[in-house]
Amino acid sequence: MIGHLRFLMETIRPELQQYFIERNVDGRPFDRDTRSLVYQRGKGVLAEKPFGTELDVNAVGYEYLVHSACPADEPDRPHTVRVGGPDCTQPYDMALLNVSAMSFGSLSANAVLAMNGGAALGGFAQDTGEGGLARYHLERGGDLIWELGSGYFGARRPDGGFDAVQFADKASHDAVKCVSVKLSQGAKPGIGGVLPGAKVTPEIAEARGVPVGETVTSPSRHSAFSTPRELVRFVARMRELAGGKPAGFKLCVGTRVDLLAVVKAVLDEGTAPDFIVVDGAEGGTGAAPLEYSDHVGTPLTEGLIAVHNVLVGAGLRDRVRVGAAGKVASGTDIVKRVIQGADYTNAARAMMMATGCIQAQRCHTNHCPVGVATQDPKRARALVVEDKLHRVHRYQRATVAEATRMMASLGARCPSELHPRMLRRRVSPTDTRSYAELYEWLAPGQLLAEPPVSWVEDWERADPDRF
Ligand SMILES: Cc1cc2nc3c(=O)[nH]c(=O)nc-3n(C[C@H](O)[C@H](O)[C@H](O)COP(=O)(O)O)c2cc1C
Repeated sequence: MIGHLRFLMETIRPELQQYFIERNVDGRPFDRDTRSLVYQRGKGVLAEKPFGTELDVNAVGYEYLVHSACPADEPDRPHTVRVGGPDCTQPYDMALLNVSAMSFGSLSANAVLAMNGGAALGGFAQDTGEGGLARYHLERGGDLIWELGSGYFGARRPDGGFDAVQFADKASHDAVKCVSVKLSQGAKPGIGGVLPGAKVTPEIAEARGVPVGETVTSPSRHSAFSTPRELVRFVARMRELAGGKPAGFKLCVGTRVDLLAVVKAVLDEGTAPDFIVVDGAEGGTGAAPLEYSDHVGTPLTEGLIAVHNVLVGAGLRDRVRVGAAGKVASGTDIVKRVIQGADYTNAARAMMMATGCIQAQRCHTNHCPVGVATQDPKRARALVVEDKLHRVHRYQRATVAEATRMMASLGARCPSELHPRMLRRRVSPTDTRSYAELYEWLAPGQLLAEPPVSWVEDWERADPDRF
């Protein structure tokens, strides 16, 4: 009852809403402005601010986009990107911003329903996360990316291995538009998750294909493949089993030697993943050791630029789409990530905020006070699906519209016209540099023709038969 009082307070005075919803955001992953932006957009309120910037534009590290003296016209409809290379028979048009992977289990059924309902209204996609394809993913008709982790939940043999028959059966569902395998996650690269037996309710057990009440551990690595070549073959097999739907993988980049090994395997095997999703070390999770969240994995900017460069340098960028996840919440984030090499973006925590998350950071305790990240039915009731699905929809729509407008302001008629020189960073009190100058950008096929000196050693070390 007290939880619901906040809705009443919201309607009475914005200041009360500010107090209840935003009082504790200092020191949390998303700052007050970002939190407020997601929240206002979800409510359909124009997230505009009076009086001008509060940022210190003279601080080293400050980044800004370079507008054109003659902005382009805005398109009538938001841009989408076609995912699906030549081996794919059912390509998918992906929105610029989608719901990033979060499993039913880490999210409540109501949160899954609200995100899926928003995706259905807005024509964007929801990634199921590694917890399997649950019935809540299928109830509202939103497009799905079905993700497998190292536990193969939903397509799991009793011994924990990958079950191709179950996978093919579920992947054939109309709502499943793409299939994905997760190698690693930004908040906890190099380890698998543990789901305590107490949380393995009959519903969770059904979605994951595991026994009720028994603790389930996801191994830190896959049993279905262990080399770059086997990964490339596994992705190709997933696509085939899914009837030609786009198949790809998600990772937080470790060393670029791994990426180079994968492209060597792709070139050898003659088949490529349709997409690669790059998660940044700054990414979120339902639960992870602090050491991992804070100190393992490549941040999104470097990881994304590395994946983009490797694909460009190997002459594969045209057939492999790149997604990016890691604190994407605003139109600016989308545009920056596209400039850095992404074709589309995914948001996890911003979508949680759109469904009511207040960053209480109690996801791992089952005591989420707003019903987003809990399996406690009483707490989950705080999330009203019919209300929050519209918030998810409006938030995504307004944010993509803003990204689209920003691209036009930069003079780009479409995302492919964005260029690293359009994003600049202050590097000293008296100097700013563009991303074109700050980072190395490979030319198409350059790794195959003559790798630049800075890449030669890694290129030579990369072995398609060993990670
Ligand atoms: C509650 C929660 C659960 C997550 N579960 C998964 C998962 O099952 N599979 C996965 O690939 N990533 C998972 N992630 C990571 C997100 O998909 C995303 O890559 C990461 O949080 C970065 O996006 P963000 O900064 O917008 O949250 C999860 C994140 C959160 C917050």
